[in-house]
Amino acid sequence: MKFHLPIAVRKKYLPISIIVILLMIVALSGYLSSAGDRETSVRILIDDCGGKVVFSHLAHQNDYKISCVKCHHEKGGDQADYIACGLCHPVAFDKNYIEKHKNYFPDKKTCVRCHHLEFFKAGFEHSEHESYASDCTDCHHGSDIEPEPQACKSCHLKTEGENIPNLQDATHDCCMRCHEDIFEKGFKGCSDCHAEKDMNKFKGLYSSCLRCHQVKKIKKLMPTRTDAFHKQCLSCHKELKKGPFGENSCNKCHFK
Ligand code: HEC
Ligand code: HEC
Ligand code: HEC
Ligand code: HEC
Ligand code: HEC
Ligand code: HEC
Ligand code: HEC
Ligand code: HEC
Ligand code: HEC
Ligand code: HEC
Repeated sequence: MKFHLPIAVRKKYLPISIIVILLMIVALSGYLSSAGDRETSVRILIDDCGGKVVFSHLAHQNDYKISCVKCHHEKGGDQADYIACGLCHPVAFDKNYIEKHKNYFPDKKTCVRCHHLEFFKAGFEHSEHESYASDCTDCHHGSDIEPEPQACKSCHLKTEGENIPNLQDATHDCCMRCHEDIFEKGFKGCSDCHAEKDMNKFKGLYSSCLRCHQVKKIKKLMPTRTDAFHKQCLSCHKELKKGPFGENSCNKCHFK
């Protein structure tokens, strides 16, 4: 059986349909034009730390036929709104950067590029573990510290105290007594206990990188400004044997 809408109702839908179609055309043309027609700077003066460098942006795209994503690795797809490298590769990840960087980025998708992972609470079957251990004190303290066995987090907080390790180190230390093999796998072993959060939907505060990466300097993880430029510019020139690279090349890019 067919279902007929009354005339009056169908008329009411007509203007809505037109608006929807118009919006779709606007959206589609925006989508198509943002890639190819987009005007990019002819030259860019890169001048934040030390020597000035003039970079022939347009020549690299058009004359040397290098696609955007070869250099702008932060987003897939040519229609992306690229942002300056220096926003993610600053001179240093110092206090100033950490305080201000939240204002530099257009949306949460960009944050997740660096704040890429958080964990759910680790899975742990307590009752089964009671039978694996010879005594409660295999994991809990004696009555001098813990009068009654209780949750570790009632004393071990997220951040370490004066004489007391943080929750992460305290529990890891306990688990490691029997699960050394998992920890030996390094980062590949994390997921044996922790499930990963979907960062695109994550609503909490981001953890410090140092929480998971036991390196004192973020520089080891994230190339800072000079490294990012030198690595990208020079390695391509070297690979193609075109453009300046090598020991005597400095003043082909740098000038006072
Ligand atoms: C050979 C590497 C390279 C290629 C190819 C390239 N870019 Fe860039 N782009 C850069 C560098 C380097 C900067 C300067 C970043 C900075 O100052 O931190 C930049 C900056 C930008 C900026 C922001 C600053 C500005 O003044 O324009 C946009 C937008 C941009 N590029 C878009 C594009 C698009 C679109 C394409 C492809 C059609 C493209 N780029 C291809 C390396 C490249
Ligand atoms: C939105 C943030 C973001 C922007 C913008 C960005 N990067 Fe990166 N870049 C990263 C992150 C995060 C890494 C760490 C490694 C990874 O996850 O790929 C990285 C790694 C690198 C590396 C080391 C990767 C390797 O292959 O060894 C180089 C070189 C680099 N970036 C150069 C650049 C240049 C040049 C630009 C601009 C054309 C740029 N980046 C723009 C976030 C960014
Ligand atoms: C280029 C990488 C990068 C991007 C992109 C990035 N951050 Fe960060 N963020 C960092 C680093 C590095 C730290 C310092 C972490 C540490 O101390 O271990 C940090 C720290 C933070 C902190 C903690 C600050 C504090 O006081 O300890 C917050 C909150 C934060 N970022 C929010 C954001 C938000 C929101 C965005 C997106 C709008 C964003 N970040 C994008 C690298 C980045
Ligand atoms: C044998 C199991 C186990 C393994 C493997 C493990 N963890 Fe944990 N982790 C725990 C437990 C238990 C806690 C404390 C309870 C909780 O908050 O989940 C914890 C806590 C943490 C916390 C603090 C969470 C918070 O909210 O305060 C971080 C960060 C963390 N682990 C990172 C890692 C990283 C990185 C790896 C891999 C190198 C790893 N863990 C491997 C069991 C494990
Ligand atoms: C393999 C290590 C391990 C052994 C053995 C162990 N526990 Fe625990 N226990 C833990 C951990 C880790 C927690 C914290 C779990 C959490 O917060 O999810 C905990 C939490 C507890 C809590 C608090 C539960 C809550 O939800 O607040 C009690 C009570 C407890 N244990 C009693 C005992 C007793 C009694 C024994 C001995 C029969 C024992 N535990 C043996 C590791 C262990
Ligand atoms: C009632 C408070 C309290 C509770 C509950 C507690 N701790 Fe502790 N823990 C402490 C204090 C205080 C210290 C530091 C004193 C010391 O080093 O003897 C400490 C130190 C530690 C240390 C480092 C020194 C050592 O003994 O190896 C580890 C590891 C540790 N706790 C693991 C745990 C685990 C795992 C749990 C839960 C099963 C837990 N703690 C529950 C108070 C507590
Ligand atoms: C006294 C030794 C002991 C300690 C301490 C211990 N475990 Fe275990 N755990 C075992 C044994 C034995 C098994 C079962 C055999 C196996 O799967 O390795 C097990 C199994 C597990 C499993 C399931 C493993 C799997 O392969 O699916 C998880 C998850 C786990 N433990 C987490 C933890 C966490 C988190 C801690 C620290 C809070 C911890 N364990 C501390 C002995 C221990
Ligand atoms: C909750 C734990 C956690 C936090 C917080 C975290 N990471 Fe990671 N990170 C990991 C794990 C786990 C891997 C390994 C992923 C894999 O191998 O699949 C990793 C890999 C990386 C890599 C690839 C490098 C390599 O050695 O392979 C970079 C770069 C990185 N993280 C940067 C950061 C930065 C920058 C921050 C802070 C803004 C951060 N991470 C915060 C857990 C974390
Ligand atoms: C993916 C490859 C690639 C990357 C990345 C790249 N270049 Fe080039 N570059 C070339 C090629 C190809 C030429 C052309 C050389 C020729 O035709 O002799 C060139 C030429 C040059 C020249 C000499 C001619 C001119 O156009 O000025 C300079 C200077 C230069 N590049 C600077 C840079 C800088 C600065 C960066 C980093 C911000 C960079 N390039 C990144 C491929 C690359
Ligand atoms: C392909 C072009 C290119 C070549 C060749 C090149 N550089 Fe660079 N260099 C750059 C860019 C781009 C930057 C980032 C400039 C900025 O942000 O001010 C940079 C930054 C630097 C910095 C950072 C200044 C600071 O204060 O941190 C030093 C030092 C430097 N280069 C030295 C050299 C030396 C020495 C050579 C020759 C061995 C060389 N560069 C060759 C492009 C180049």
